[in-house]
Amino acid sequence: MITAGITLGLGQGLRILVDQGLATQSPDNLARAVGLFFILVLGLASGSFARFYLVSWIGERVVADIRKQVFNHLIDLHPGFFEQNRALEIQSRFTADTTVLQSVIGSTVSIALRNALMLIGGLLLLFITNAKLAGIILLGFPLVIVPILFFGRRVRQLSRLSQDRVADVGSYVGENLTQIKTVQAFNHQPHDRRFFAEVSERAFDIARARIKQRAWLTTIAISLVMGAIGIVIWIGGLDVIHGRITPGELAAFVFYSLLVGVAAGAISEVIGELQRAAGSAARLFELLQTEPAFDRPAEQDAGTFPNAITGDIRIDNLRFSYPGRSEHPALADICLHVQAGETLALVGPSGAGKSTLFDLLLHFYQPESGTIHIDGTDSATVSLAALRGCFSLVPQNPALFHGTVADNIRYARPDASQADVEEAARIAHAHEFIEKLPDGYLTRLGDAGLGLSGGQKQRLAIARALLADAPILLLDEATSALDAESESLIQQAMPALTSGRTTLVIAHRLATVRNADRIAVLDQGRLLAVGTHDELIQENPLYRRLAALQFREPPA
Ligand SMILES: Nc1ncnc2c1ncn2[C@@H]1O[C@H](COP(=O)(O)OP(=O)(O)OP(=O)(O)O)[C@@H](O)[C@H]1O
Ligand SMILES: [Mg+2]
Repeated sequence: MITAGITLGLGQGLRILVDQGLATQSPDNLARAVGLFFILVLGLASGSFARFYLVSWIGERVVADIRKQVFNHLIDLHPGFFEQNRALEIQSRFTADTTVLQSVIGSTVSIALRNALMLIGGLLLLFITNAKLAGIILLGFPLVIVPILFFGRRVRQLSRLSQDRVADVGSYVGENLTQIKTVQAFNHQPHDRRFFAEVSERAFDIARARIKQRAWLTTIAISLVMGAIGIVIWIGGLDVIHGRITPGELAAFVFYSLLVGVAAGAISEVIGELQRAAGSAARLFELLQTEPAFDRPAEQDAGTFPNAITGDIRIDNLRFSYPGRSEHPALADICLHVQAGETLALVGPSGAGKSTLFDLLLHFYQPESGTIHIDGTDSATVSLAALRGCFSLVPQNPALFHGTVADNIRYARPDASQADVEEAARIAHAHEFIEKLPDGYLTRLGDAGLGLSGGQKQRLAIARALLADAPILLLDEATSALDAESESLIQQAMPALTSGRTTLVIAHRLATVRNADRIAVLDQGRLLAVGTHDELIQENPLYRRLAALQFREPPA
């Protein structure tokens, strides 16, 4: 407001300069007028400093807050959401869209506000200076506004599309770089170059369409505004010639018309930018408005378990199918009771639904029907945090994060001491190989645990689960062939892992199955039989076949 006010004040300074300084031909008056001018300029300079600093600060602040808010929201969303919306596409909304917002809030909004003030102030002063001339300008106003609104809308639509295409580019790059070995092993680069060129060109085409609309918007606005000023100078000039107004008045009037014209031009230009920001904001708020697809009490209203968990699990009539596959349920009518402290092996052919059962225990998905009770409490009534606190998970493909080996083991309990970390690593038989890494426990792992073998990753994941020390252990054995030594090391770690807790282990090895108290046989989402190894060999043909063909004997 201060800088806009001073800029408007410069017009009055100009009138005084012309009418009193120049017209009176008095050097004293001229000096006074110029002195006033310098004071105004000084105010304008310091005002501009404050405006630039403060407004840019707001831009950065808003973006940092939005990023945090979106991230805090996303990290709680159900995993199914990220399968439908590619995680990398979402990542691009984080970077590309927040950058657009930052530039808009940090500069465009300030330009828009300042120019809006100048436009309004300029129009007022136009009327005060000369109402007749101002009336002429006002008549032309709708001519300027209508095209601005028309093109502005198109710019916004194209912006949205444009950001979507940019996101495509980002996720395509991300996907290929993370899978670089597969890409290169299959000599897929020529195809990727071609696909990527298409994706980039699509993004370019949309961007070009958007730029064209904006260029039209600016061109039309400038022509109309400057045309109006030309007419004003013509009519006003005639008035000065006929002595109806002073030259200073005309000078001030032209100055204000220019100001109004420039302000209108600037606004029409930044309206395009603002529309672009609206597109980006829409993409971000879409993420914020995504509700978890779970039918359960909100986290803050949900309870916790009444007592410490002993690990008794009762599954009743559990049924679940993945979205779009309702005719082939991944789990159908599962009834299963696992007693506290028991070790239950889950076996079945690939795709039987074993990993899906773990996902439902952790409530990554909403079951279609059926219940899961833990220690007699319906797991759908407790908070997700309390529910997941009951479990330690060793997933089929263990995930490691950017950071040191110790950070990765400490993942489940960030406050664990170094001694605890080493203790867990020793039990999981990970200590030996960690010691041999270049920096021991402080060796940094790349993205997705780059720099470790499959067996080492799995042992690290076991150490992490051990450190988490939850009453129920969910172990999804890797199906990938571990080398014989890692496999026997993991087998040796099993008793320490399973003692004192309920363990559900998806087994691909006969040794694991033999160590279990009971075995559950799954096929095509159905629970076929539960029993001991010997019972099942007698009674269940599928188990007999699996035992003969699929379970890999550990080395002697
Ligand atoms: N995210 C998903 N979306 C849709 N269908 C899925 C998804 N994950 C698994 N499925 C399907 O659900 C079924 C069960 O998969 P699940 O991963 O539970 O098998 P599994 O028993 O763990 O097999 P494996 O021994 O090979 O790990 C399969 O038919 C699979 O194709
Ligand atoms: Mg699986």
